[in-house]
Amino acid sequence: MADLQWKKKYAVGVASIDDEHQEMFAAVRALEAAMNRKADAAEMGELLKTLAAATVRHFADEEAVMREAKYPGIGLHAANHQRLLEKIDAFVARHVQNTAALNVHALNFLRDWLVIHVENDDARLGEWLKDRAREQAPDPKKAPALDRSA
Ligand SMILES: [Fe+2]
Repeated sequence: MADLQWKKKYAVGVASIDDEHQEMFAAVRALEAAMNRKADAAEMGELLKTLAAATVRHFADEEAVMREAKYPGIGLHAANHQRLLEKIDAFVARHVQNTAALNVHALNFLRDWLVIHVENDDARLGEWLKDRAREQAPDPKKAPALDRSA
């Protein structure tokens, strides 16, 4: 399985969101690495819970950004978040009950979902936020200078 690496093109432009996305990528990578070295069910369960917690926190933060900005696409976007949370809850529940250990199909689902969501729903949110920022600073000459020290 190829590495799930963060790429610059995934950046939405809001530092807190981009940081949390990288955290989620890392959590899925950790699960993949554990599966590849055939980690035991307890360790897989812990890593799955880490991903679940990072996901819950991130979606809440991202939805707060959308609400604050009055983002018109929030309904659909949050519904997609909800669907993934339900899916992760089901993975955790099945893993805990040991009826279906987290398998390669579940992991592929998680990585695909994450990349597709970041490239589509989150990219659309990022574009909208950038457009809005431009509208709020109509005269570029009066806009504050960019910090180029970073
Ligand atoms: Fe999102």
